[in-house]
Amino acid sequence: MKVLLSFDAIQARILEMGRQIAADYAGGEPHLVGVLKGACPFMTDLAQAIELPVTLDYIAVSSYGKATKSTGEVKLVKDLDQGLEGRDLLVVEDIVDTGLTLNYLLNLLRARGPRTLKVAALLSKPSRRLVSVQVDYVGFAIEDHFVVGYGLDYNEKFRNLKDIVVYGV
Ligand code: IMP
Ligand code: MG
Repeated sequence: MKVLLSFDAIQARILEMGRQIAADYAGGEPHLVGVLKGACPFMTDLAQAIELPVTLDYIAVSSYGKATKSTGEVKLVKDLDQGLEGRDLLVVEDIVDTGLTLNYLLNLLRARGPRTLKVAALLSKPSRRLVSVQVDYVGFAIEDHFVVGYGLDYNEKFRNLKDIVVYGV
């Protein structure tokens, strides 16, 4: 499969993102919420790249069937361990495609009263967007390819690849 983003290129970009986030939250303590499972490698590396005290939590969602696809309604598979009231919440996602999942998730999390709410996504496919959704930090904007590796899967496989590759190519 064709390497789209090498592990080294990913790491270099994450260091830049971490510096930017540390500058934007200077003096603060961002609360990072990673979306399982795809965001795990990114969450780990990004958290280490942010030279500030941070706290981490995880949420897992799964899409409902096709019937509700246009709403992006998701089922909570694992909820957060900690509350969000008054926190500086930074949602950490692997990829924003149509934006439906993230849009739904942001509405859910916003209702829990964080003081601020931002999003960091390693990848974004802007040409696929069906709803406009706020993404404050984007690692790489990519074309409409299906990609796997560095956490991203196809049928739960390939998450352990170090590079991000174009599936099937
Ligand atoms: P959405 O279309 O923005 O709601 O994205 C839903 C989910 O689809 C993402 O969180 C990913 O788990 C998955 N996804 C979208 N594009 C890709 C891809 O290129 N590779 C692997 N998973 C993807
Ligand atoms: Mg995902």
